[in-house]
Amino acid sequence: MSFIVGIDGPAGSGKGTVTKKIANKLGLINIDTGITYRCVALEVINQNVLLEDTNKIIEITKNIKINIDNTPNGDIVYLDGKDVTKDIRSKEVTKIVSQVSSIKEVRFIMVEMQRKLAEGKNVIMEGRDICTYVFPNADVKIYLDASIEERARRRFKENQEKNIDMTYQEVYDNIKRRDENDKEKEIGALKIAEDSIVIDTTNLSIDEVVKKIIDIITLKNKF
Ligand code: DC
Repeated sequence: MSFIVGIDGPAGSGKGTVTKKIANKLGLINIDTGITYRCVALEVINQNVLLEDTNKIIEITKNIKINIDNTPNGDIVYLDGKDVTKDIRSKEVTKIVSQVSSIKEVRFIMVEMQRKLAEGKNVIMEGRDICTYVFPNADVKIYLDASIEERARRRFKENQEKNIDMTYQEVYDNIKRRDENDKEKEIGALKIAEDSIVIDTTNLSIDEVVKKIIDIITLKNKF
């Protein structure tokens, strides 16, 4: 038996931060599904593959090995045995990842991997299509949102802390483009599941969002 909490929402909605905090507090395994698509995008760049070369990208997806080590200080990500934790957050990867994740076959393979990662475990999984597609029967379904200005501001600050070199305008434009692209995907588009609880985090602190979600989870299960 496994207990699944799905957290969907656009970039900068607070998914990553609150998901990690809730996982630590409730002893859930935290799965950030964006990592899986970022690894494919990184490999596309490393192998100099053109975005138009869908067949090659599918082949790359079939062959890569992704390992995610959940540590108290955040996820350590290994791609074919190499630590790529920082590389998958680069400007170059962030620019192409939404397009790479739009390829249907890439999604089929990654969703399969995401379901396997959760098998038999109590997890909190964050992404864009967790409550609609990956786990439509998740025990708790949450959709986080915030204004685009607030999301860009958060991501810009986060990038500065991680020494990722992007201006506020670059971050804003990237988020806007990714939002549009993520919402238009044929499979696994970013959308609110009918039975998801929507939380607008624009004017909420991280701890307020964490508390709201923990209250919802506690109503469903006694952790
Ligand atoms: O959450 P993130 O910014 O790390 O995600 C990177 C990209 O991956 C995002 O632009 C869309 C894609 N993605 C997706 O299509 N489905 C998911 N479940 C998670 C991420």
